[in-house]
Amino acid sequence: FSMQVIKTKKVLTEKLNKLGSSLNLGLVPTMGALHQGHASLIRKAVEENDKVVVSIFVNPTQFNNLEDLNKYPKTLDADLLLISEISEDIIVFTPEVSEIYPKTVVPKIYDFEGLDKVMEGEFRDDHFNGVGTIVEELLIVVHPTRAYFGEKDFQQLRIIQKLTEIRQIPVEIIGCEIVREDHGLAMSSRNERLSKETRLKAAFIYETLKAAKIKFGTDNALSIKEWVVNEFKRTNDFELEYFDITDVETLTPIIKKTNNLKYRAFIAVYVENVRLIDNIALN
Ligand code: PAJ
Repeated sequence: FSMQVIKTKKVLTEKLNKLGSSLNLGLVPTMGALHQGHASLIRKAVEENDKVVVSIFVNPTQFNNLEDLNKYPKTLDADLLLISEISEDIIVFTPEVSEIYPKTVVPKIYDFEGLDKVMEGEFRDDHFNGVGTIVEELLIVVHPTRAYFGEKDFQQLRIIQKLTEIRQIPVEIIGCEIVREDHGLAMSSRNERLSKETRLKAAFIYETLKAAKIKFGTDNALSIKEWVVNEFKRTNDFELEYFDITDVETLTPIIKKTNNLKYRAFIAVYVENVRLIDNIALN
């Protein structure tokens, strides 16, 4: 590749300094194992900025168990190919763990005002502290004009917005639509771990979200939740971890709708021991 692959903060900073401060710079943080969901973020960043940095770093402090961390797929060659097909002009930042965590591999502790306590945060205490730690570090080193995050991880997106508020980091956080497989399953590197048959069946998750959206026109949140819980009880293949309807600001599960607020439905499901998440805008 003629693409630049940089491993240290020092070289990255030198490279970015040479570009000058008048350029619009886009940052796309990833953990690699790139697929078309990531590609859509990178494409948008390339369209909207003069220069783009894609980071590939499997961040140890956001994993709640070692097995999950060790099993995380590493596909750097394929990742670089996917990026180079979007543009050869992209800077790829792939630091070692010791570059990001020189002393101890522990996250900083943030007060995300409760955004980190629900759903994905509920059973994973330090997960969003870990995400915050790496994203803050990347924002400080790269100093981008805009940074791109997928709505696939909507709670993460909201927490990053909160992070830039509380740390007063001058960057525009851009949320990007969920990219789905043809039959509707939200793209994820974890989909590769499903059998072909189950991968198709998993369209059921998005089907349920779409049905919940229609019901949201007439039904209250609690009865929709009950309906979803029952739908999942009727299947043998899927195990529901949570389904929640929340407003997009506080991510607090609601009992009743209020006018002028935006709501989303969130779901986490186990299929063949793989944990999948998805969400949908309700209004
Ligand atoms: P990762 O899971 O690699 O995802 C990188 C970015 O791609 C995230 O912003 C995620 O929301 C987005 N993404 C993944 N699948 C998507 C899809 N189907 N449609 C749209 N966007 C999608 O999220 C992380 O890495 C890490 O937590 C990170 C932010 C890099 C911090 O370590």
